[in-house]
Amino acid sequence: MSDHPIEPFRIKAVEPIRLLTRGEREQRLTDAGFNVFNLKAEDVYIDLLTDSGTGAMSQRQWGGLLQGDESYAGCRNYYHLQEVVQDITGYPHVIPTHQGRSAEHMLFTLLLEKGDYVVSNTHFDTTRANVLYRGAIPIDLPDPSCTDVTADHPFKGNLDCERFEELIQSKPGRVKVCVLTITNNSVGGQPVSVTNVKQVAEICKRHDIRLMFDCARFAENAWFVSQREHDQSGRSLKEIAQTIFSYGDGCWMSSKKDGLANIGGFVAVRDDELAERVREMMVVIEGFPTYGGLAGRDLEAVARGLEEVLTAEYLEYRTGQVEWLGESLSEAGAQIVRPIGGHAVFIDAGAMYPHIPPHQFPGQTLTVGFYREGGIRTVEIGSIMFGGTDPETGKQMQAPHEFVRLAIPRRVYTATHLQLVVDAYRRLYAARERASGFAIEYQSRFLRHFTARLRELPSRESETVGR
Ligand SMILES: Cc1ncc(COP(=O)(O)O)c(C=O)c1O
Repeated sequence: MSDHPIEPFRIKAVEPIRLLTRGEREQRLTDAGFNVFNLKAEDVYIDLLTDSGTGAMSQRQWGGLLQGDESYAGCRNYYHLQEVVQDITGYPHVIPTHQGRSAEHMLFTLLLEKGDYVVSNTHFDTTRANVLYRGAIPIDLPDPSCTDVTADHPFKGNLDCERFEELIQSKPGRVKVCVLTITNNSVGGQPVSVTNVKQVAEICKRHDIRLMFDCARFAENAWFVSQREHDQSGRSLKEIAQTIFSYGDGCWMSSKKDGLANIGGFVAVRDDELAERVREMMVVIEGFPTYGGLAGRDLEAVARGLEEVLTAEYLEYRTGQVEWLGESLSEAGAQIVRPIGGHAVFIDAGAMYPHIPPHQFPGQTLTVGFYREGGIRTVEIGSIMFGGTDPETGKQMQAPHEFVRLAIPRRVYTATHLQLVVDAYRRLYAARERASGFAIEYQSRFLRHFTARLRELPSRESETVGR
């Protein structure tokens, strides 16, 4: 196994964290109904719940905050952000938003009618929700390689062009937008190749379909391209990103990821009329189009984050740290999604706990186990998140996998922190046969994983309690 990559920074400001005693952690779990979303963040020692908005900013970004121009209209930080985004994407119109989902909401409100189709390599949850909210139909067409979660394939994030063509033939004129999520978050932070982008763009052009990028992790995507796509190696990361964007009509970004900021987003498009309509809508729901619901200082932090993110030193460290964690967990016995993605490691808890059936949530067993063992917060991506009763049809839904995700905040945790995660996993793995499942005691109608309360089953109950 490779060494942990050397951090290309040193630490200047610190935030104390505290590991509660085991007794305190047990109490917090009981109080939280065994749902880690209900924990107070200060009771968490190492927080791997998400990589969104949880990163550490650089001294240049913090310095930029003091140069925030808080004028209502036309602040200088907007022009800085516009210049940086235009340079990377080539799209002339740049409109800031307070985060990614508000960009999605405006774009889909303007682009879609009821019954329209949107095709994606995989819609992120909020993207899907915003498509559905318009009465339109989101279709995921991920590359077939991603169905085998352990098979090594360099570009599992790709869109399946063959099925895309078939869908267009079967729904003539009804596919309005194609979304390439880079990297493809929902299949494990897997990259999309330039070749795939090119093919998708050709199809879109032939059928008059708008091609948009959901580019929250575009820099991690560019890094993987530089490492894995032979005819792109030797090009700068910025050139790779520019090439990808050159094939599209526009993009939106949650800057809480590769913007290296704690809040922010934007829409960037070529189309003058669409941009005008986004600006009109912006005034109604987000704020004046040059601040988009953000303070001037936040715009500056995003602009500077985007200037920093496309450096090889940072991206090599970033993706290397995620890889180090994945390989270390694998060596400790975990079955993980491969290749290891850009922002997170996914452990197959179903494989780890074969005696716990999906309806007793093996992913929750591991999630609770991590907190118990090391005060570590992870997230279940399995039958609590995707199972339950479909509110529309009343049918039981089945999660495709019982995963636990360990998302790594950017520039936050050191090798020692992550070693502690691996050590905790080792202990959980050794005790796996004695672990038991969970039953849900309370759940909401929608997105139950956020607020559900659970009960831990004694081991002997594991086989008998139903859904
Ligand atoms: C790929 C992708 N798109 C969109 C979003 C939504 O962005 P936000 O959380 O800033 O609203 C996210 C957030 O995790 C994401 O990962």
